[in-house]
Amino acid sequence: MSLLSRLSWAALFALVGADSYKEPFRPQYHFSPAKNWINDPNGLVFHKDKYHMFYQYNPTGNVWGNISWGHAVSDDLLHWSELPIALDAFQAPSGPLTELYFSGSAVVDSGRSSGFGNKGQTPLVAVYTSLYTQDMTLPSNQTVRNGQQSQSIAYSLDDGLTWSEYEGNPVILGPPSAYSDQYQNFRDPFVFWYAAGQHWVMVVSLAQEHRILLYKSSDLKEWTITGDFGSVNAVSGAWECPGLFPLPVDGNDHDIKWVLMVGINPGAVAIPQGSGTQYFIGTFDGSNFTADPGTILSSPVPAHYTVYEDWNKTSFAASSWTPTGDFVGEGPEGGTVLTLWGKSKGDGDGDIGSLTSSNFTITSKYVQFQIGCCSNPAIVGAYGTPQDIETTINLLVSGEVVRSTTGVSGGGITWRSWDVSDLVGQTASIRLIDSSSGGWGHLQVGEIVFTDSPLPQEANWVDWGPDFYAATSWNGLADETRIAIGWMNNWAYGTDIPTSPWRSAMSIPRKLELKNVQGKTQLVQQPQPRLSPLEQGKPLQQRFWKNMSPGNITLPLSVKSVDAELTFHAGKNPKETGISLRQGSDGAAIRVGYDFATAQMFVDRSAETQDVSFSNLFPGIYYAPLSADHDGMVKLRILLDWSSVEVFGGLGESAITAQIFRPDSDLAVSVFSTGDAHSVSLKLYPVGSVW
Ligand SMILES: *[C@@H]1O[C@H](CO)[C@@H](O)[C@H](O)[C@H]1NC(C)=O
Ligand SMILES: *[C@@H]1O[C@H](CO)[C@@H](O)[C@H](O)[C@H]1NC(C)=O
Ligand SMILES: *[C@@H]1O[C@H](CO)[C@@H](O)[C@H](O)[C@H]1NC(C)=O
Ligand SMILES: *[C@@H]1O[C@H](CO)[C@@H](O)[C@H](O)[C@H]1NC(C)=O
Ligand SMILES: *[C@@H]1O[C@H](CO)[C@@H](O)[C@H](O)[C@H]1NC(C)=O
Ligand SMILES: *[C@@H]1O[C@H](CO)[C@@H](O)[C@H](O)[C@H]1NC(C)=O
Repeated sequence: MSLLSRLSWAALFALVGADSYKEPFRPQYHFSPAKNWINDPNGLVFHKDKYHMFYQYNPTGNVWGNISWGHAVSDDLLHWSELPIALDAFQAPSGPLTELYFSGSAVVDSGRSSGFGNKGQTPLVAVYTSLYTQDMTLPSNQTVRNGQQSQSIAYSLDDGLTWSEYEGNPVILGPPSAYSDQYQNFRDPFVFWYAAGQHWVMVVSLAQEHRILLYKSSDLKEWTITGDFGSVNAVSGAWECPGLFPLPVDGNDHDIKWVLMVGINPGAVAIPQGSGTQYFIGTFDGSNFTADPGTILSSPVPAHYTVYEDWNKTSFAASSWTPTGDFVGEGPEGGTVLTLWGKSKGDGDGDIGSLTSSNFTITSKYVQFQIGCCSNPAIVGAYGTPQDIETTINLLVSGEVVRSTTGVSGGGITWRSWDVSDLVGQTASIRLIDSSSGGWGHLQVGEIVFTDSPLPQEANWVDWGPDFYAATSWNGLADETRIAIGWMNNWAYGTDIPTSPWRSAMSIPRKLELKNVQGKTQLVQQPQPRLSPLEQGKPLQQRFWKNMSPGNITLPLSVKSVDAELTFHAGKNPKETGISLRQGSDGAAIRVGYDFATAQMFVDRSAETQDVSFSNLFPGIYYAPLSADHDGMVKLRILLDWSSVEVFGGLGESAITAQIFRPDSDLAVSVFSTGDAHSVSLKLYPVGSVW
């Protein structure tokens, strides 16, 4: 690209000065906007040597609202420049804020199939969800209802700088008739060109049905439904932000599989009240996606447990659950499920109250229970607030809620699990709460059991950490190059994280591949941008220990952003081996390591000492399965930035992404081992800033 065009792009936006981007917790090599709120990445498209990234953006503040599409571009996926807002809710064709621009994708319409522009021009077309904020007739004469979600398109004839809405919008007014009642939960279209069939394909979510619909089109305007997928694996919350793309298995062009990525909120693995991303591997024939049998997991059930409560009428009568509100005098009606559904107001859903167990001592590592109906569907504008979780089962210790889980609307009852290993020996009680008096305002709880075994894996998680959501990938790259990025935040606490004047960052971009690892085809990922330009002039720290016995080795280093690789093998009596980052003089640190006993890597951010009071859901330890390689080596690649850590295990078959908010003074690094390890090797580069 010429210097001239580089300058003309640069002249279009205010370059961020070198003095800024130094606020507390400001990511140094991850994208965050200069100011204001962002969430999902949208419209990722590579065009004329530039990576375009749009994102859900509030132009007016630091919390979710007034959702528009912000825009940034990069030459290298590391250095980003913010451009003017692409789709501005204050300038919606039907009037300011009558339409919000929810998530979607973008394509390069090289063949001008859409007819936008003139011969010789190449339109970029964005496909997104319009959320209408009132009943109205649109400029296209189509009528929409308040809260309706429809699919719309906009186009750019200047390589993405400015955008116009198509006057015929929306292009898909609502879901097919079988799901017409889901018109408020129909969103996040991902569109791509299917060369083998010479047509466009859209995958779009029926959020509350946990179902992905597939459509096809020849011009991006007229769409026909061709397939559907769901509802399987993790379904304890809304399905959002689907993406579908092909990848060769182990680089073999004759073995192409398709990957369907889907966001879920709540119901993710790291924080059940929060958001995460799962994937399915299968085949796509141009119309429908079919998952491979191995990618569909059976519903997990507990093993080796003791029953605490099974709602047997006789034993319930003898036990001492304490009711309040409308549940005084109520009890089980037979069967092993209790429906918290008083009868005093006649309609059941209107009743509110609670039921509290007697005190017991925690003696097992897990409390597991069946829960269903209802997570009251996410209320727009109230994401992550208690309004989302009015019907819950809570664990109380010393009067404080220490665990809390809600059910799945209409999804039947499913087993959920609390890891209470840190609470063994403490006195606790369980409280069932129904404070929702609206429709579906009740709670179902099945058996409650105590066990030392975790629940089996329920989904193929793209990332096992709390802060990787709404992941989507770039259109416009070579067929086998698939680069994805996720929102590095979680709806469980996202609007409360202690950053200003911006809130939320994106993950590091990740190159996705399919590989056979441990006899199973898995999605593997590695950070895509080479960080080496940012490391220039910084000394590489390299250490090697032939044998390591239990203890901590503090390194003479102070670091806030690094790219590290830690490898090691099990010793005679292996336990946990890893690295502590951002360690304070009190020993508190972010611990990244591997547990040989359970074959899991982990990130422990439970020792936060500052600025985590914003949410009791924030502190925690997050685990991901990881096997040593065939030589017995465990490999962890660790990217630390000022307020995040991302860990890629092995070939990248396991990833954990977590935000961290540590005191600025806590910068020490140590390698730890609670058992024996050998051939421990650490390479660690301090990383500079892109801003
Ligand atoms: C959205 O915009 C309106 C009008 O400018 C403003 O009053 C409101 O505070 C904004 N909401 C948020 C959440 O930023
Ligand atoms: C919408 O309806 C009005 C009144 O019938 C008509 O004048 C106008 O051309 C219509 N617009 C479109 C886009 O069809
Ligand atoms: C698409 O495939 C699914 C299985 O994944 C099947 O249940 C469904 O009926 C198919 N839909 C169509 C329209 O062929
Ligand atoms: C319920 O509990 C009582 C007393 O422990 C027991 O006799 C009875 O068999 C149980 N009923 C069921 C259905 O499990
Ligand atoms: C259970 O323990 C809590 C706090 O430890 C206490 O406040 C409560 O009164 C106890 N409940 C019963 C029924 O003993
Ligand atoms: C290593 O450090 C951790 C955390 O700072 C501390 O809890 C532990 O006691 C230390 N272990 C040894 C053997 O020094």
